[in-house]
Amino acid sequence: MCGIVAYLGKKVAQPILIEGLKRLEYRGYDSAGLALLSSPPNGGIKINKTSGRISALEGILDGLDNKESLGIGHTRWATHGEPNTVNAHPHLDYTGKIAVVHNGIIENYGTLKTWLQNEGAAFASETDTEVIANLIGYFYAGADQAGGAEISAGRNKFEWAVQRTLQELHGTFGLAILCSDFPDMLIGAKKGSPLILGLGDNEYILASDAAAIVEHTTQAIYLSDNEMVTVTPKEFHTKTIDNITVSKDLEQIEFSLEQIELGGFEHHMLKEIFEQPDCLSTCMGGRIDNKGHRIRLGGIDSHLRELTHTKRLILTACGTAFHAGLVGEFLFERLARIPTETEYASEFRYRNPIIEDGTVVISISQSGETADTLAAIEQAKERGATVLGLVNVVGSSIARTTDAGIYLHVGPEIGVASTKAFTAQVAVLSMLAIELGRRRHISSNQADMYIDELAQIPRKISRILEQSDHIKKIASANIDKDNWLFLGRGFNYPVALEGALKLKEISYIHAEGLPAAEMKHGPIALIVDGMPSVFIATAGPQYDKIMGNIAEVRARGGKTIVVATEGDENIKQHADHLVTIPDAPELLQPMLTVVPLQLLAYHAAVLRGHDVDKPRNLAKSVTVE
Ligand code: AGP
Ligand code: GLU
Repeated sequence: MCGIVAYLGKKVAQPILIEGLKRLEYRGYDSAGLALLSSPPNGGIKINKTSGRISALEGILDGLDNKESLGIGHTRWATHGEPNTVNAHPHLDYTGKIAVVHNGIIENYGTLKTWLQNEGAAFASETDTEVIANLIGYFYAGADQAGGAEISAGRNKFEWAVQRTLQELHGTFGLAILCSDFPDMLIGAKKGSPLILGLGDNEYILASDAAAIVEHTTQAIYLSDNEMVTVTPKEFHTKTIDNITVSKDLEQIEFSLEQIELGGFEHHMLKEIFEQPDCLSTCMGGRIDNKGHRIRLGGIDSHLRELTHTKRLILTACGTAFHAGLVGEFLFERLARIPTETEYASEFRYRNPIIEDGTVVISISQSGETADTLAAIEQAKERGATVLGLVNVVGSSIARTTDAGIYLHVGPEIGVASTKAFTAQVAVLSMLAIELGRRRHISSNQADMYIDELAQIPRKISRILEQSDHIKKIASANIDKDNWLFLGRGFNYPVALEGALKLKEISYIHAEGLPAAEMKHGPIALIVDGMPSVFIATAGPQYDKIMGNIAEVRARGGKTIVVATEGDENIKQHADHLVTIPDAPELLQPMLTVVPLQLLAYHAAVLRGHDVDKPRNLAKSVTVE
């Protein structure tokens, strides 16, 4: 996600745009830019943009005497193309008449780019966004011919070109658009990414969210998907992208600035936990073709053949990413029968690892900057391995160091405790394992079933999130206990590890994750009266076994907090506290069973009065050894 701001009014636009972008910097901050448009005789679109944060943009604007009262601005969270100055927004079209800032992902940008290049359009950047600018420019240049009767009947060419373009786009967009032939017109459009129009006193502010608007006006209209707004100094018109007028209710912005940046949530971590359904939909969007039951992971297309025939996979990561990797190990072995091992990067890097021909290494990292993981990648490359990256931050060190990779596309993860990145990492590993499975081991019908089940995960996570208050009560009943156990089997064993890490790092309660069967090999000695043990006891091949583990704990006075499958009546008599999740194939359950554990840790930390987003002693990205 990123931040968009646009201004049309009587004041000088630049300071308003800059202040607005600063309010949206939490949405993305790898590069920033402005486009300003004035009426003739100066005329034309002026663009200033740079990699880095908004302060870097202020640096290049310093001393410029920009007096324009119409402009658009962008603070970027890259999805397509390095976070450098060329790829920063705004993007101009090849005719130089159209400027665009964009929030979202255009899934069919590759096809459109090739077609436009064949039509003679030049491209400067690697972004998907530049395709939007060039497509508007292309339709605008040809409007008199292609627009036919509408244009000759006086239809606004700029608006017409924008609508023709939006009808061709697959994916998501929040857009603000300028055309140098219309120095008193601003167009906005929305599909899948937020866009709000603030209505001031003879001025309008278009933005990704109210944070950039609320200091100017609290009157706003919220665009809905497939809607656009055309703004001029005296009025605005809202339409569908098919040119059907729509009337919009005027709404009052009631949130404070702080609340808006947090989307109304108390902490970024809670916001990111609740974002997971949308984030997974974005992460999988354009990669799962539900009709054709095909999975397309463009970033590693060139290595798919090698992956299909690889003799061994090594997954390497740290912390939460390691736990996601462990799920991936089980997925690759179950679905594709590829011998796989998951290594702590900090251990792998010092162990003179054995890497024979045919080994592929996959490094997993939200930040893409973790020192141990970078070092592990170097060790793997020195030994001739192909190294792929699974990262969230586009253009990060790991993204640049690996031979190819897959981006998570879940937007900035601000909370130190990783949540949406974990589920997205598991989702990407699941997609890759299903695709490799189809090529190596499982039947097409099985692969199709898993793809259909995977597509249901976001909706199922939403169902679990509805239990947040119930989970808060469970946390409240147990936060006085200083030692907890987290226990799971099979695909849910890594989730037990992840749940323990979440609780440790933000509530400072000591917790240990274990394979449930390991209890009898020592840890059961820890059980004392009232000690919480969190069990993942969902429907699956080891359900009866884990019921035995639950009985062992209860027999010794331990408290059981159980995550089970909806409709399981048997479990109720064995659980002191119960959270249920919708049913799903065992190998896809981790994206569901982790959610109650994320919420348990979050609520425990808040109830203990800790700084959830910035827990003591921790950093979001561990760039040192
Ligand atoms: C997870 O909640 C922690 N913040 C930490 O373990 C983190 O997962 C680890 O440092 C790896 O970070 P990365 O994914 O950015 O490489
Ligand atoms: N997909 C666009 C890009 O990569 C916009 C990304 C965003 O929403 O920040 O530039």
